[in-house]
Amino acid sequence: MKTIAAILAGGSGTRIGGEVPKQMLPLGGKLVLAHSVGAFDAHPGVDAVVVVCREDLIPTVQELSVREHWCKVRAVVPGGADRSGSSLAAIRAARLLASEEVRLLIHDAARPLVDAETISRCLQALESADAVEPVVPVADTIVQVDADGFLTHVPARDSLRAVQTPQGFRLDTIGEAYRRAAADPAFTATDDASVVLRYLPGVRVCTVPGSPRNRKLTLPSDLDWFESQIAL
Ligand code: CTP
Ligand code: MG
Repeated sequence: MKTIAAILAGGSGTRIGGEVPKQMLPLGGKLVLAHSVGAFDAHPGVDAVVVVCREDLIPTVQELSVREHWCKVRAVVPGGADRSGSSLAAIRAARLLASEEVRLLIHDAARPLVDAETISRCLQALESADAVEPVVPVADTIVQVDADGFLTHVPARDSLRAVQTPQGFRLDTIGEAYRRAAADPAFTATDDASVVLRYLPGVRVCTVPGSPRNRKLTLPSDLDWFESQIAL
């Protein structure tokens, strides 16, 4: 079975602001995207890499691929209007790349400090599961609120986890989940495993330990933390 990693870099980074999307910011002498793609390009369990990015950045990413000597990048494809649209682009690109059965890892380009061990744990889990995501415990109590900000539910903290990427799937599984989602006018999602949970309730999504360093660059205040981690 072939393993394809798709790096989602199709966002514009509105929360962090600035002229350049956050995945194209420098971090420790490389671009954020170069760290994320590099982790999968270098992983022995990954056979091919797909980068999903904004259409206007395709030439830049192709040049980066040459400059960074990535040897597994097989496609650089345009993303969608939202993250789910970019996941769909990744699924389609993965289908075109392989005729045999495929495992697809979908990773946020904005998580440049993903480590080889987390990737390995996901791949190991996919030996027996159809879907997997890395998670870490949450430190804060998390509450659910209504539209007016009043508490509606306080889930027990022991049962809560913060979700990271890469999230891994049998390609057929994630493809079918998104096919069903496309028929739902109310569909919205911020990650991929939740699409499987919602539209393929018979499929069990397993979790593996993530890493505290595998954070998502989201806000301007995150930049200092990332710089400090790179310096370690
Ligand atoms: N992403 C994508 N295509 C989109 C939107 C997001 O590929 N249309 C990617 C981002 O590039 C990022 C990952 O999905 O690597 C996680 O999304 P997020 O952190 O929300 O990034 P942005 O959408 O770029 O940021 P913001 O929500 O602040 O605009
Ligand atoms: Mg976003």
